[in-house]
Amino acid sequence: MASDAELRHFLEIDDLSQDELQTVLDRAETYKRAQERGEDHLDLEDRTLGMIFQKPSTRTRVSFETGMTQLGGHAVFLGEDDIQLGRGEPLKDTSRTLSRYVDAVMARVFKHENIEVFAEYASVPVVNGLTDDAHPCQTLADLLTIREQEGGLEGVSAAWVGDGNNVAQSFALGCALTDIDLTIATPEGYGVDDPVLERARDLGGNPTVTTDPVEAVSDADVVYTDVWISMGQEDERDVRMDAFEGFQVRSELLAHAADASVMHCLPAHRGEEITDDVIESDRSVVFDQAENRLHAQKALLSWLLE
Ligand code: CP
Ligand code: NVA
Repeated sequence: MASDAELRHFLEIDDLSQDELQTVLDRAETYKRAQERGEDHLDLEDRTLGMIFQKPSTRTRVSFETGMTQLGGHAVFLGEDDIQLGRGEPLKDTSRTLSRYVDAVMARVFKHENIEVFAEYASVPVVNGLTDDAHPCQTLADLLTIREQEGGLEGVSAAWVGDGNNVAQSFALGCALTDIDLTIATPEGYGVDDPVLERARDLGGNPTVTTDPVEAVSDADVVYTDVWISMGQEDERDVRMDAFEGFQVRSELLAHAADASVMHCLPAHRGEEITDDVIESDRSVVFDQAENRLHAQKALLSWLLE
């Protein structure tokens, strides 16, 4: 177990300073190149990651588990209903118990406050694998992908189109940390939370907020969207489908965006927030994003545990 003095959690992308974020992205690139050359980096030999999931996952689960294996360690999948958490054991007890066994915990939970409670009681690093408010591991992969596409981050022009959800909020903070110019287009009432926008401004960012997707994508290097109905919002489906009309990322919208890359954290709902032809087009970098989850999280874990 880590001592309190060294203990760092990753609950939000801005838990990393600009320099630390740069270090993690550089390390991710190093791991990616090493893997391409077939080199092993057993930097987490004999280490164990506990992975709590209160919501489904494909990318987060498999990339964390595979990443631990590739670094010589091990990951334990802990679905909510497989552990006593699902029967009402308090998070703070689960946190203190797991801290006695594993070297780090990654958790995907509903309320963001829950991961904060989990981290408060943990004596090992806690990583946010998605909450209702944030998805910082996704942002690491997104920034790595943009850096690969654009050759750098500073001054890149990005457009977020759709729901101002967990992925958007972490992306907004990530853009602020890396000097990406971000314009966020959402319907009225579905924007990024004001405190998150304020935090982005405090970090030196200057996100532009609009309700006009065409304004957002004009001159963008990158156009990013995500589902209109996130996990846990299924009951709002009808209202949301009405609210997001006109915000679909489709070829007509992208005609205003010259040769912008198209991003999506996946899973995508084709025909809702994005069309099939766009996601299958040469502009789409969605599977690079998905792959980069692996490299970015290996870098994050080895940095947190070194
Ligand atoms: N993007 C992402 O986190 O995907 P999963 O829900 O499949 O983990
Ligand atoms: N906004 C989506 C992201 C899934 C990776 C959700 O929370 O369901």
